[in-house]
Amino acid sequence: MNHQKKYFCRTMEELSIVKDHIVAARDFLEKYTAGFLNHPDRDIADLMALRREHSLKVSKLSGKIATNLMLEEEDILLAELIGLLHDLGRFDQFQKYQTFDDEKSANHAELTVELLKEQAFFTALGEEKQELISQAILNHNKDGISLKDDKLVVTYSQILRDADKLDIWDYCVSNLKRDGNFKHSAISLNLPASGLVNDSIIRSIKSQKPAKRKDMQSVNDFKLMLMSMVFDLNFRVSFHLLSEKQLIKKLYESMSKKDVVIDAYRELRLYIENKFVV
Ligand SMILES: [Fe+2]
Repeated sequence: MNHQKKYFCRTMEELSIVKDHIVAARDFLEKYTAGFLNHPDRDIADLMALRREHSLKVSKLSGKIATNLMLEEEDILLAELIGLLHDLGRFDQFQKYQTFDDEKSANHAELTVELLKEQAFFTALGEEKQELISQAILNHNKDGISLKDDKLVVTYSQILRDADKLDIWDYCVSNLKRDGNFKHSAISLNLPASGLVNDSIIRSIKSQKPAKRKDMQSVNDFKLMLMSMVFDLNFRVSFHLLSEKQLIKKLYESMSKKDVVIDAYRELRLYIENKFVV
């Protein structure tokens, strides 16, 4: 794919409009999340602060990836905007259901788009951009996306999916405790901390496919599922960003070394290393 083409915005005027939209979106994020961050339960307030941090980081990472793909400045800003907005539904999801598990609550991408459609700053974007942003957000938590979709939707979805994964790894690794569990059990979807590893997850890794969320039965499975997300990473720059921080290695190091885990890690490591072979 030729990433050097101009994707969406066309003029200097549009560039300044996208910049204004980003300011308005940041403002909205700030105000909307403030109420959740003031939660009387310190643990929940902390969790909400981490979610807000995630939105800001995914925005930054989306910009980095888009820059590396040599997109035009306006298109880089649009990628940043999508990153900033992509998870807004998480706050209401947790407030209503006390979980981040979509299976047990609601699809948080759909919640995000529903919320955005009610906001003046979003409707001011115009129908075409609203549609593109909504599609990219709706695509971000799917098992996979169709490459036959509109080219713009595919590109922005891929950027968002890579940026999201990179920060999910970082967020999880940063919130690991010495005992291998996470600081908040909600991070690992309240799964039990047993040493069990589900065979289906190992089979997915052996066949170089992302593991299915429904197969997770323990914190170990959650970590392996996280690691298996590398099989769905799209861009070379994303592999660089991943390797820079050694995120997969750190997740592996937090696990007890059963043979199946060692084998799975070897498969993952080889896959990542091969991405750097020209
Ligand atoms: Fe998300």
